Amino acid sequence: MARHAVIGGMGSALPSREVPNAELERFVETSDEWIYSRTGIRSRRFAGEGETAATMAADAAARALAAAGLDPGVIDLTVVATVSGDQPLPSTASFVQERLGMSGAAFDLAAACAGFIYATEMAAAQVATGGAETALVIGTEVLSRFLDFTDRTTCVLFGDGAGAAVLLPGEEPGVLGSVLENDGRHAHLLEIPAGGSARPASGETVGAGDHVIRMADGREVFKRAVVGMADASARLLDKAGLSADDVTLLVPHQANGRIIRAVAERLSFPAERVFVDLERVGNTSAGSVPIALDNAWRQGRLHPGDVVLTVAFGAGLAWGANLIRWTAPQPDGETR
Ligand code: ACO
Repeated sequence: MARHAVIGGMGSALPSREVPNAELERFVETSDEWIYSRTGIRSRRFAGEGETAATMAADAAARALAAAGLDPGVIDLTVVATVSGDQPLPSTASFVQERLGMSGAAFDLAAACAGFIYATEMAAAQVATGGAETALVIGTEVLSRFLDFTDRTTCVLFGDGAGAAVLLPGEEPGVLGSVLENDGRHAHLLEIPAGGSARPASGETVGAGDHVIRMADGREVFKRAVVGMADASARLLDKAGLSADDVTLLVPHQANGRIIRAVAERLSFPAERVFVDLERVGNTSAGSVPIALDNAWRQGRLHPGDVVLTVAFGAGLAWGANLIRWTAPQPDGETR
C-alpha cells in the first residue's frame, strides 16, 4: 500500500511583547495610518530577553506534539526553517532537539519566507518514502534582532514567532504536492549583507550597519511576490488536477494585505476563503505560514478532508506552494 505524509497536529508560539505601530513612530518617521494602509499590520510581537528562534520553535513544536497526542521521543526528523537562527553554529534544530529531548536527524533549512513551504515538502518526501517515521517541521524567526530601526522601509514590516507541524505516515495523501522555485539573479534584492563567510563580523561591518535586513526595492519585491505566489499556486493546482473551487482555504504568507488580495484576485479566491492574521502578527518570514495555519485550525477554519493551499515568497528570491489535504481533527479546548 502506498505510504503518504499527513499532518498530525500544529502548534505556534509568539513572544510576549506586543509592539503596536505607534511604538515604531518613536524610531522612524512613520504613522499607524501609513503602516496599516500600506501593509495591513497594526502590531507585531518582538522577542524579549531569553526568547530566541530555538525557544519559540521548541514551544511551537511542543504544542504541535501535544495536539497530535505524541511524545517528543517519537520524532526522528526535525527540519527547522529559519534565517535568524540562534547561532551560526550549530543548527537551531540542534537546540530544539536539546530542549525537547529528541533524537534522530535534524537540520536547518534557509529559504527565508518560503522556508516552511520548502521544509514541508522535504520532510513529507522523507516520511512518504520511509526515510523518516515521524517528522517535525518548524518555521521560526526573530527578525527583530536583524532590523535597522532607522530604516522605515523595513523595520515596520517584520515580527517574531514560530509555527510547527507534525508529519506522520498515512494511507491517504495529506501533503498532495508542492511547487518550489528560487531565482538567484535577485539574491541581493533582500539580504543581510554581513555576518557570513563573505563578510564576517568585524568592526567595519558593525560600524557600517551591515548585520541588518536591507531591501533594495520594496516595490519590486511586492510585484514579484504577487506574480510568484499566484503562478506557483496556479501551477500546483494544475499539477494536482484541481481548481481554486476545490480549495477550502488559501493560507498565504502574511507579508502584506495588498499582496494577499492581489494574489487571491489573480487566482479568483473570494476573501472568505483566504486566511489573514497579519494585523497582529506582522511578517514572521518562515514562521508566517505555520502560524497562520495553526491559527486557522484552532479558529475552526480547517477540518479533516479540507484542502488547503499554502503559498509564500521572500528573499532568495525563493517562493513556493504546498497543497495539503487536512487530516488533523480539531484540538480539544484550546481555541483562539
Ligand atoms: N512610513 C511612512 N512612509 C514610508 C514608510 C513608512 N514606514 N516606508 C516608506 N515610506 C514612504 C517612502 O519613502 C515613499 O515616499 P516618497 O514617495 O516620498 O518617496 C512612500 O512612502 C511610498 O513608498 P513606496 O515604497 O512606493 O510604498 P509602497 O506602497 O510600495 O509600500 C512597502 C512599501 C510596504 C514596503 C511595499 O512595497 C511592500 O510591502 N513590499 C514588499 C516588501 C516585503 O514584504 N518585504 C518583506 C520580505 S519579502 C516578503 O515577505 C514578500
